[in-house]
Amino acid sequence: MYLTTAHGILFQDDCLNVLPNIASNSIDCVFADPPFNIGKDYKNGYNDVREKKEYLKWCEKWIKECCRVLKKGGSFFLYATPELNIEFGKMLSKKLQFRHWIAISMKGTFKRGNRLYPAHYGLLYYTKGEPNVFNNLRTPIPLCRHCGGEIPDYGGHRNKMNPDGVNLTDIWTDTSPNRHAKFKVRGGVNELKLLIPERAILISTNPGQIVLDPFGGGGSTFQAAEKNHRNWIGIELYDCNHIKKRLSENFPNSVGKPTFDFNNIIHFDK
Ligand SMILES: C[S@@+](CC[C@H](N)C(=O)[O-])C[C@H]1O[C@@H](n2cnc3c(N)ncnc32)[C@H](O)[C@@H]1O
Repeated sequence: MYLTTAHGILFQDDCLNVLPNIASNSIDCVFADPPFNIGKDYKNGYNDVREKKEYLKWCEKWIKECCRVLKKGGSFFLYATPELNIEFGKMLSKKLQFRHWIAISMKGTFKRGNRLYPAHYGLLYYTKGEPNVFNNLRTPIPLCRHCGGEIPDYGGHRNKMNPDGVNLTDIWTDTSPNRHAKFKVRGGVNELKLLIPERAILISTNPGQIVLDPFGGGGSTFQAAEKNHRNWIGIELYDCNHIKKRLSENFPNSVGKPTFDFNNIIHFDK
């Protein structure tokens, strides 16, 4: 174990070593943002280029484990490129039910050869049967960057709108990664904007429930879970210092002070 917080526990290990120690049907929400095998530099020594077949075989192993640990009615969010999501969807469909392909708009990508300019990644959202929890989130009405006025006019029905905003759709355009070094947690390129795991967690869990992320990276899922009082299990194979720093800065009274007992969920002695 690398660290504990009021709500979480982090392992610095290979997820395929840790997942078998997690009890079946014990997790409410899995959020996974795996390496994409496209040669990204994770700034931590991870080799992100393998034979495609070998890579997919590896993915099938951790996906299967994540499905096993998910409770009946639990949710699985899997973030990847559209090409990978086609493959992941086939694996997930063996155990879970499809709910959404959430298009996450992506800036700063590159057009390659005779292809369209790629402008989104997919956040797959599957559940183990009917979802136990589905919280309908709302987002503020979009405003014009220049004049500050509301962009849509809602055909004269503005006064009947819910004051909390509009229903969240399956296209998220406010999710571009932090590009400015000042806002990056590990000075790298791969952490997601907090909003992405946070929305997934808020949609699919209530406070006190359990979130698992097998690919910690910069720790955005753990921050989102801790902030929203969800208990969490995290795994990251490589450098975890950034996660520790992030959690210590954001929750100074929480690191090293566990309040949740994971003993019924993780078999530490295996
Ligand atoms: C795309 S990043 C995750 C970023 C994270 N969602 C965030 O917002 O900060 C994928 C991470 O998986 C880690 N990783 C790669 N192989 C792993 C394995 N077998 N077990 C656990 N973590 C692994 C990499 O080191 C990398 O930090």
